[in-house]
Amino acid sequence: MITKTDFPIYFKEYGPPNQSPENWTRKQFEHFLTFNLSKINESSSVIVVTAANAPVQRILRDVFDISEAWRQDWNYTTDKTSKTLGGNASSLAVDDESFDALLLHNSWEHFEGDSDLDFLKEAARVLKTGGKVIITPLFFGLEGFVSTSPECWPYKYRAASEPPQFREEVPLIVNNSINQRYSQRHSVKLLLRHFNDVARLSPKIMRHFQCPRFWSISPLLSSS
Ligand SMILES: C[S@@+](CC[C@H](N)C(=O)[O-])C[C@H]1O[C@@H](n2cnc3c(N)ncnc32)[C@H](O)[C@@H]1O
Repeated sequence: MITKTDFPIYFKEYGPPNQSPENWTRKQFEHFLTFNLSKINESSSVIVVTAANAPVQRILRDVFDISEAWRQDWNYTTDKTSKTLGGNASSLAVDDESFDALLLHNSWEHFEGDSDLDFLKEAARVLKTGGKVIITPLFFGLEGFVSTSPECWPYKYRAASEPPQFREEVPLIVNNSINQRYSQRHSVKLLLRHFNDVARLSPKIMRHFQCPRFWSISPLLSSS
């Protein structure tokens, strides 16, 4: 457990009162998971994909001495001197087979239209052999659906003001109270189709039994 004095920026972003104590515990758990499952070390090259305000890149660099720690979000402007990438995560401006790990927290379910699958294809391109993309949490069920709040489409993200793209086959639920452009629970069928479409990745799905609210799962996709 990180305390207020261990890493003040981390606490300010995710600790109380900014976030609920429950969220604070959940965030630490997510970051602990992705760090451990990816097995990264000082010599690894890592992208924290869809990093938003999260100081994870700085923690990897300053606490874990990972000099090749990058961050990405479509709300960023690309600046390679600060290891920052903008644009859609489904099109990363980096070389083929150049990274050991891509870490995603609370975001793959927000990838609109085909960009969830396109991101997996991009991960397969960008990862070195044996590299890993960790997505946590992963929301899926027998039936899939997308929830959306049209009222927030124009302003939710600086980089996306057009209406989201939807898949015709996925049921849509309009719910303005969640304030999300696009929040998907993948159907098992769609998830398996995505995994089949990206032959270079071998998915592993892991369930966190000790954490009841984390009924969702972390797939660990390794490139082969
Ligand atoms: C719910 S936030 C999660 C932020 C952070 N990872 C965390 O755990 O606090 C989702 C983030 O994903 C970003 N995002 C959504 N779709 C994206 C895409 N296709 N490409 C890049 N960033 C995207 C948004 O800008 C937002 O910062």
